[in-house]
Amino acid sequence: MAFAPIAFASPKQSFKYRLLSAAVLLGLAAIPAVAKAPPHAAVEPKTSPVLLPAEWNRVVNPVPANPALEAKINEILTKLSLEQKVGQMIQPHIGAVTPEEVKAYNIGSILNGGGQNPNDNPNSTAQDWVQLAERFYQASMSSENGRTPIPVIWGIDAVHGHNNLLGATLFPHNIALGATRNPALVKSLAALTAAEVYATGQDWDFAPTLAVAQDDRWGRTYESFSEDPSLVAQLGGKFVEGLQGTAGTKEFLAAKKVLATAKHFIGDGGTQYGDDQGYTAGEEQALLRTHLPGYIAALNAGVQTVMASYSSWNGVHSHANARLMNQLLKGQLGFDGLIVSDWQAISHVPGCALDNCPEAVNAGVDLFMIPNAPEWKNFHANVVAQVKAGVISQARIDDAVRRILRVKLRQGLFSAPSPLQRAAASAGVIGSKEHRALARQAVRESLVLLKNTQGVLPIKPKSKVLVAGLGGNTLVHQTGGWSVTWQGKDVPNDKFPGATSIFAGLADALKAIGGEAQYSEQGTFTSKPDLAVVVLSEEPYAEIQGDIQNLATLELDGTHKSGLKLIQAFKSQGIPVVAVLLSGRPLWVNKELNLADAFVAAWQPGTEGAGVADVLVAKIDGTPNADFNGRLSFSWPATPCQTPLNKTDADYKPLFAFDYGLRYSSSLTPWQPLSESTSEYAYGCRLKNQLPVAKRMEFTAKDGWDWKLELPSFQGSWLGEGASLGALTVKPIKDGVSASWDGKGEARVMLRNKNTPRHDMLAALANQGVLAVDVKLLSPVSAGPGIDVKIWSSPLTSGTVDVSKLLAAWPQGKTQTLSIDLACFAKSFTDFSKVDGPIALQAKRALAVELSNVRYEPGQAKTASISCSQ
Ligand code: BGC
Ligand code: BGC
Repeated sequence: MAFAPIAFASPKQSFKYRLLSAAVLLGLAAIPAVAKAPPHAAVEPKTSPVLLPAEWNRVVNPVPANPALEAKINEILTKLSLEQKVGQMIQPHIGAVTPEEVKAYNIGSILNGGGQNPNDNPNSTAQDWVQLAERFYQASMSSENGRTPIPVIWGIDAVHGHNNLLGATLFPHNIALGATRNPALVKSLAALTAAEVYATGQDWDFAPTLAVAQDDRWGRTYESFSEDPSLVAQLGGKFVEGLQGTAGTKEFLAAKKVLATAKHFIGDGGTQYGDDQGYTAGEEQALLRTHLPGYIAALNAGVQTVMASYSSWNGVHSHANARLMNQLLKGQLGFDGLIVSDWQAISHVPGCALDNCPEAVNAGVDLFMIPNAPEWKNFHANVVAQVKAGVISQARIDDAVRRILRVKLRQGLFSAPSPLQRAAASAGVIGSKEHRALARQAVRESLVLLKNTQGVLPIKPKSKVLVAGLGGNTLVHQTGGWSVTWQGKDVPNDKFPGATSIFAGLADALKAIGGEAQYSEQGTFTSKPDLAVVVLSEEPYAEIQGDIQNLATLELDGTHKSGLKLIQAFKSQGIPVVAVLLSGRPLWVNKELNLADAFVAAWQPGTEGAGVADVLVAKIDGTPNADFNGRLSFSWPATPCQTPLNKTDADYKPLFAFDYGLRYSSSLTPWQPLSESTSEYAYGCRLKNQLPVAKRMEFTAKDGWDWKLELPSFQGSWLGEGASLGALTVKPIKDGVSASWDGKGEARVMLRNKNTPRHDMLAALANQGVLAVDVKLLSPVSAGPGIDVKIWSSPLTSGTVDVSKLLAAWPQGKTQTLSIDLACFAKSFTDFSKVDGPIALQAKRALAVELSNVRYEPGQAKTASISCSQ
């Protein structure tokens, strides 16, 4: 059987697709913004208090109540109309709102998303950021026509330094900071971030992430300090202090300090399979024990804002969880700052849309990150209408605005210098020598030594070293996601002015001790080096794009093994190898570990690559320049599918345990070769886990399934909207569709559902499932390829099985069942948990068929019309 190539979505494509689908929704939302006003209860049902371990009940808000400040809030509130109050509750992105609109709507906050720059200019300078901040600020402070000036506040993701800004100091991501075990350093790094952010006119940082990542397949594992809640709490609290200043001291929210955000509340790191934006399950106590301590620490440090999570807990979306936001966070824990929603996240709440979600308002979200227009405008109209209709109480609005004003007043925004004025006072801070030195210290302290045999480390004086591997001299591999762009990919080195690559750092350090370093990505050389440093790396990623999905495993570079090949090549020529791994999570690297003489986990160190050489390269006398300090903040897997793997597991058998990390002084025991077997998995890791027994599934119109016509370019139309598109003509039949292709182009007819975007088909795959459809050929099919059955997952990924040969053998006019073993799709498709197109028939030649009764059936793989299972 032939397998046609599949269309894998690159992150960029899927991002575009998201924009596209947002634009489609936007079109729909442009219809008059009338509140749909479902019968939501404005009054919270009384539930029993959330039970907390005793010490957690004692969150001490370090920011004392301030009657004068509250009086000021009251005064402002009395001056605002309902419309103006609701304006304060909205946060559009800088490309979708103008300073004029900030003034007209009394907008409370603006943001830029990852990789979004002033004026859409990727080369924006610090001055451009300041200028734009000034324009927004001045608009918000206008007292034109008796308007009450309220400073607008600009929030930004400065998650490892001021990472959107060219020339900023980028320090290692949180996972690496976890390995330093150095809370004071984390505080200093957050303080440098605050100073650089403040300098360009932003007042609010969407950091720190307090996720306690439990399954390292999660694409945000590197944003998590640790799998261990207490380490997250320890470092997260200090990060807050560094950004905001220490509460109770003069520096608190003073100049050069910005507001911190504890995110994402709550359970983002606990999702099943490590799915980003996924489902976290378990008892309330278990949720809190693992995922709450970071918030307790942040509250005790006086954190002023909390961001709700995209994830759900036990079926309740975090943005609608009144018990955890209203009752626990604001009530029992006494949080008096503001809760902000995540990017477009309200649309994920069942029953809500991008522009309409009274559930989230009522559950306790105060400020709404509704990045795009016209959604934010529609949301404004909807909330006003919902207050008038009693769906949202006036008191809830007042409470939300009170919190927003409280945070702004505490931050001193009403009296602070304008962005332009403060920029002058901050001259020279961005990417300063002092900042870079701190970031370099963090790199040094975060390196974890996993193996050191043959005494190859530290690298001796006078050594001639060859540095190889893409990550050795390509900055994106050391900066990772959230670096210049959102995904952090494809950013050329010159977009990191002032940065030092790992190679450059090694070259400098070696030169100082009479040695030298050369770089060759492919490891080629003319004269044999004494030693090779092979930099292994993951591709950069952020959020969902970083998830290791479905059929993939924790193996580094699974298919290409390019780093492994480099190590093999050097070793076969008798050249000792030091492997340096750049990754956002522990990975299965047993083959590389066995072969390399030394192995260092360097995480994603950021712009100061010289910190690697500080530890790897010896002093002139041959003794270590600096010792290894890092200790694993995540358990390291022994097998490619050993995830979730956490130190609290009953049967804890990691390769390297939490806390592991060698020192130069560690005694060198002979290396015991590690298993290199990958037989643990057949289709990837998920199927190893217990999956539920698959049920038969039907895809019927009554559940919202409908046929769509589509061209390979994705241009499409629904069956009801017209009978033909390109080469394809369709008409409805009972429980199906009649479709004919004229042979003059390629097109597909496919099932789609407007309501249920994703279906988890993993269980069906694991249970020998088939995709079945009743087929009647209306004309005979001639021999030759060109007829495929596909399944789709959002956004652009598909699996394909060629059915031409089978159909050519079938009689005309007789209805027969075509069943295809799902394992056949698995050969080219990894996305079974997110199937949103259960079947498509795609042809590029003449064909006339009726398709009906599409279903998945478990247990039929071996007897399918097309079978791939052994
Ligand atoms: C933004 C990111 C945001 C992401 C969420 C992107 O368009 O730039 O900041 O996190 O969307 O989906
Ligand atoms: C992310 C947040 C981020 C926000 C704004 C979201 O997609 O989940 O962490 O703060 O975008 O960029």
